[in-house]
Amino acid sequence: MKVAVLGGTGKMGNGLARHLSRNNEVIIGSRDSARAEAAAKGVPGAKGGDYSAACREADAVVLAIPYDALPEVVGLASEAMGKLVISAINPMKMDSGMLVYAVNGGSAAEELARLLPGSRIATAFNNVSATFLQREEFPLIDVLVACDTKETYEEAARLVRTIQNMRPLYAGPLSQAGTIERITPLELNVAKLNGTGSLGPRFVSRKD
Ligand SMILES: NC(=O)c1ccc[n+]([C@@H]2O[C@H](COP(=O)([O-])OP(=O)(O)OC[C@H]3O[C@@H](n4cnc5c(N)ncnc54)[C@H](OP(=O)(O)O)[C@@H]3O)[C@@H](O)[C@H]2O)c1
Repeated sequence: MKVAVLGGTGKMGNGLARHLSRNNEVIIGSRDSARAEAAAKGVPGAKGGDYSAACREADAVVLAIPYDALPEVVGLASEAMGKLVISAINPMKMDSGMLVYAVNGGSAAEELARLLPGSRIATAFNNVSATFLQREEFPLIDVLVACDTKETYEEAARLVRTIQNMRPLYAGPLSQAGTIERITPLELNVAKLNGTGSLGPRFVSRKD
């Protein structure tokens, strides 16, 4: 698959780009095409471009950008319209020393769906720490995916599975995205308070 990673110059986007590049054609997207090209040099087989160029070529688009930048970035990436678009965005802020979920209404993924009508929107990768992705290999991790149709889930899950040791799990319609996004500040607070280092979800079943 050809995958554009918007925010591919950042911690999360770059980590995803490196792991996705093992089994996909990756295009790193940035507000600045020179920055994207520089970041692409560190990702095997990848190329870089501004957000518009990256989306034009891609079959699927992953957003790893700050929540507050969502309207600006979507404005620069209208070529994502009609494609599979995955949000890894977690709206968070610091409050009295704790990270808390801070969204304007609904969730980042639902806001994305409003900004990009006609696209196949999913949320995924939200609870995977970029520090996991810095490693060549990491332990098995579950990737919660919320989206509105079975077809979108299958398409998003196929992309998740292209990263070794990531297991996609369907978490319901896009209206559930806020529940997934909220897990991230919880994980980060727990990691800090308990000195565990970065955490990621792994759901254990009775069958395991
Ligand atoms: N870090 C993690 O462990 C992690 C894990 C899961 C999910 N996430 C989510 O991924 C998103 C990015 O997090 P990050 O830690 O990767 O952040 P980051 O290192 O600061 O990277 C964010 C990227 O977004 C792009 N961007 C576009 N518009 C922007 C703007 N107005 N202001 C700042 N940056 C802008 C920047 O790329 P250009 O300047 O090149 O356009 C930048 O490289 C967040 O929503 C976060 O919740 C992060």
